[in-house]
Amino acid sequence: MLNDRKVSFSGIQPSGNLTIGNYLGALKNFPYYTENYKCFYCVVDMHAITVRQVPAELRRRTSETLALYIACGLDPDKNTLYVQSHVPAHAELAWILNCFTMFGELSRMTQFKDKSARHADNINAGLFTYPALMAADILLYQTDVVPIGADQKQHVELTRNIAERINQIYPDLFTVPEPIMPQAGAKIMSLADPTKKMSKSDENENAVVRILDDRDTIIRKFRRAVTDSDTCVRFAEGKDGINNLMTIYAAFTGKSMEEIEREFEGRGYGDFKLAVGETCADQLAPVQAEFKKLCADKAYLEAQMKKGADEAAYYARKTLSKVKKKLGFII
Ligand code: TYM
Repeated sequence: MLNDRKVSFSGIQPSGNLTIGNYLGALKNFPYYTENYKCFYCVVDMHAITVRQVPAELRRRTSETLALYIACGLDPDKNTLYVQSHVPAHAELAWILNCFTMFGELSRMTQFKDKSARHADNINAGLFTYPALMAADILLYQTDVVPIGADQKQHVELTRNIAERINQIYPDLFTVPEPIMPQAGAKIMSLADPTKKMSKSDENENAVVRILDDRDTIIRKFRRAVTDSDTCVRFAEGKDGINNLMTIYAAFTGKSMEEIEREFEGRGYGDFKLAVGETCADQLAPVQAEFKKLCADKAYLEAQMKKGADEAAYYARKTLSKVKKKLGFII
């Protein structure tokens, strides 16, 4: 809570062009909190460097991710939209939280295990302590809810454990946050291998649909999506590809699985894939148009980024001072 208002916080790494997994699992749900919560949505560039980045691309994607926040309906006058590295308190609190986070806990993180397997030549300490920085992001703003996809749930649970551990020593220092996941869309799978999560850093372009893909590309990617040898559109065990497409369709339309099964009764996979592709393209079209407008106005984006960082820094400093005082630092 901040000033009697509940707080929503979330972040997205600018480590690749965003996918419909990021959109349906997280971004699309951010504006839901705007009216009733104090909202902080951050572009987490410091997390992104746990994997090697090309500087010019990181810079471009950082601005683009902020533009996408706005294009997806986050009004910068009603939400605090900013870039993580612009608020040094994140790094400062991360260090402190590192000292309350256990080696064993960090070793159990699925994202760490996955990423260290994928980047075996660069298993750096930042990759390992990544969740302490994420906990700092969240706890700095006394966050109540964290809208995320399913893959980040474990990190928010660790954040809760860290907060509770510290609160036991220094009562009421942090609000203990709740992870919030959408009913449909919390885990969108790869179109090429529906047993694997859709990931923005996937090298196979056919596996991912990007928020900024054009209409033809979106429809083509869905047409090529891996399914099965059955012909009936129904949600069932062993039908990972179709289950994923139905989940995507449900997340975009709000329809239930039963409604979708009825809608496509007696129709083949071809018809269904086209409908998913068209719905996805239709829903992303206004986001893409708004994104294009925003990117044409660099000065506006820079001004929003600066305003957001100033706002965030104000609240972050408050929590950080409180933490430092409790810990015994001279401030
Ligand atoms: P990141 O950048 O990998 O993903 C951003 C958000 O998108 C969700 N997401 C998905 N949801 C459904 N299906 C998918 N295939 C899919 N892929 C990604 C993620 O769950 C996430 O909500 N560590 C975070 C970034 C972060 C953060 C935070 C999030 C840093 N600090 C504080 C919340 C609060 C990450 O790597 O997300």
